[in-house]
Parts: sequence; C-alpha cells; structure tokens
Amino acid sequence: MSEGILLPAVARGTLLPTAERVARLEQALPQIRAALDGERDAVAIEATLACLLWETLVQTNWCGFYRRVGDRTLAVGPYQGTMGCLRIDFDRGVCGACARTHEVQLVPDVSRFPGHIACDDRTRSELVVPVVVGGELRAVLDLDSPHLAAFDRAEADLLVALVADVFAGATF
Ligand code: SME
Repeated sequence: MSEGILLPAVARGTLLPTAERVARLEQALPQIRAALDGERDAVAIEATLACLLWETLVQTNWCGFYRRVGDRTLAVGPYQGTMGCLRIDFDRGVCGACARTHEVQLVPDVSRFPGHIACDDRTRSELVVPVVVGGELRAVLDLDSPHLAAFDRAEADLLVALVADVFAGATF
C-alpha cells in the first residue's frame, strides 16, 4: 500500500508501460475524488492532488501546481519533487504556453520545446493541464518526468476530467 491511497507498490521513478500507467491512474481516480469530496478550498485541493498524484504517477520527478498570481505570472504552489522555479511568466516554458492557451501541453521531449524552463535538468518530458474555472485560468497542473515520452494522451484526458471535477466551485 502507498501513503494516502491503495495502489500496488512501484518504485519511484519507474516508467511503467502505457497501459499499466493508465490502469494505475484509473484505479487511483475514484480514491482521489473521494478524498476531495466536498472540499472547496483551492490550496487544500492542490496540496492533496500533488500528494496523491505523486503516489500514483511514479514516473514523475515533479508533480504540482503553478498558480496565477498576476495578469501574466504564475507562482509555484503545492508540489512534490525537486525544487521548482518560483515564478514563471506566461511567455516562458511549457507552463507559460498552457497558461496562455488554456490548452493541455503534452511534451514527449522537452529539449524540442522552444523556451522550456529547466528547473531540474534531469526532466525529459512534461504534461501540463490548465485549471480553468468559470472561464478563468487559475492555475496549471505541471507533471515532469526524467523519462522521454512518460505521459500519454489517455493520462492527459483522465487528468483533464479530474481537474474539471475537483476544482468546479473551488474558491481561489
Ligand atoms: N519545466 C517547466 C517549468 C516548471 S518546472 O520544471 C517545475 C516549464 O517549462 O514550464
């Protein structure tokens, strides 16, 4: 058992085959939704998601949130992993692209992404999901991995649905 939710133990840093990663995430999702049931405070939601997605997505070396703190600025929020950059302008990096466009950024090789910010130079691939509530970009969920192509579109789609559910009605 892992901390927080019931999942098979897998060593941190393991890149499971895609089907196993998707199955593991699908097993975790009802438990994550149950853990957050009724919670409306955005920081409480972000902190709990950072913890539980870190347990679930064992391929990550960074898992957490950047929050919108100005017109075009993100500041680091709750996360697990190696130390992240504190602030990211909307013009920079994968998180900035997500914040600008409100679109999921699925980057199999960050070295090919113009302007990628290397907070941890071991990061090779990245998935960023926008947190948009009431049409406003409130935060981004940033997932980084030291493996190339560590995230699949199916994982992205599941995380988009999770974020939409758990932040609906949240107070930021
Ligand atoms: N790689 C990200 C920056 C955030 S950290 O790596 C935690 C980016 O390019 O947006």
